[in-house]
Amino acid sequence: MNYVNKPKEREQFTEQFDRFYTTFARVYDVVVKLMPFWKRWLNATLPHIQGQRVLEISFGTGYLMMQLAKQYEVYGLDYNERFVTMLREKLAQTGLSANVRQGNVEAMPYEDGYFDTIVNTMAFTAYPNGEKAMSEMHRVLKKNGRIVMVDVDYPSDLNRMGVLITKAWIAGGDIVRDMEPLFKQFEFEYTDEEIGGFGSVHLYITKKC
Ligand SMILES: C[S@@+](CC[C@H](N)C(=O)[O-])C[C@H]1O[C@@H](n2cnc3c(N)ncnc32)[C@H](O)[C@@H]1O
Repeated sequence: MNYVNKPKEREQFTEQFDRFYTTFARVYDVVVKLMPFWKRWLNATLPHIQGQRVLEISFGTGYLMMQLAKQYEVYGLDYNERFVTMLREKLAQTGLSANVRQGNVEAMPYEDGYFDTIVNTMAFTAYPNGEKAMSEMHRVLKKNGRIVMVDVDYPSDLNRMGVLITKAWIAGGDIVRDMEPLFKQFEFEYTDEEIGGFGSVHLYITKKC
């Protein structure tokens, strides 16, 4: 299976994606609302959240954050300023509250061992330095805390459609990785369940040991 190497110019990679999101933030918001399968993948995280203090990294349009804010002490961090503004507007309109800020997963503005659960959907493949991102997630999680992650990887049975979909993500610029070595490097216990896209969309539940 072909996985993607880290881009050489990491900052450039992040800035390029960021410009794309800034241009298409409103379109993306509508697309998420119109795509039942996308919402299904995101909602698959909800039953696995544990504890009260929850961080969503890279919340994008804020579809999940708006649900999390109803139940948890919720924090959100995203690199894109426009997504941050959009989410603040949505929260203000509904009277919900959440601690929302702009920032980079590779240097998060939170104390060590602060969160019970981290939620991260369709975003890890946008991080140029997976090791740094995972190390930061590990740092801000409490012992026995969880990362509940949805992202793209090859289907385990290598069915043709699933492989094609995974390759399409790679062709679009995403950094599809084998997550197992990364989880192992940080000594996470984890499960990996295929939840859609012909096995190309994976739900990972990890526990910090
Ligand atoms: C494909 S979108 C996913 C958004 C949302 N989680 C979803 O599932 O619809 C990727 C998100 O990652 C964010 N992102 C990219 N690089 C980031 C970084 N280095 N730190 C934090 N967020 C980042 C983008 O701004 C964008 O919101």
